[in-house]
Amino acid sequence: PWSAARAAELIEQHRPQAGACLPILHALQEEFGHVPAEAVPLVAQALNLSRAEVHGVVSFYHDFRKTAPGRHVLKLCRAEACQAMGADALAAQVKARFGVDFHDTSADGKLTLEPVFCLGNCACGPAAMLDERILGRVDLTKVEFHLARHLA
Ligand code: FES
Repeated sequence: PWSAARAAELIEQHRPQAGACLPILHALQEEFGHVPAEAVPLVAQALNLSRAEVHGVVSFYHDFRKTAPGRHVLKLCRAEACQAMGADALAAQVKARFGVDFHDTSADGKLTLEPVFCLGNCACGPAAMLDERILGRVDLTKVEFHLARHLA
């Protein structure tokens, strides 16, 4: 849950670093699962930036989530080797099956879909990462199978 006190602590911790904005935002996302809108003014104030500037950074880097992720995060590899193995078709199937787009969470809050560029699993494309687990030769059935297991 959001805690302004905890956010302030994290901001203080990273503020002395050069280019503190990114490390701070990463720390906030790690703590809260996303960068809460409430954190933006705190970061802006600490770094002497405008809210719009901080907001711009959060929006520019797709790694940052502006909303809380679903219970599971599926990252589909979009890089070349996986593209050659049908990553596009897989992405289309996953989107249709769960009613999500990239950077989006399904309506039931179950799944957040994110693109990733190479998971180092190129020999087993298309590759994906479901929460912390790397999967290879992924198809829709495999995604559903792992989700069902995790949800059990
Ligand atoms: Fe997909 Fe490397 S290109 S894992």
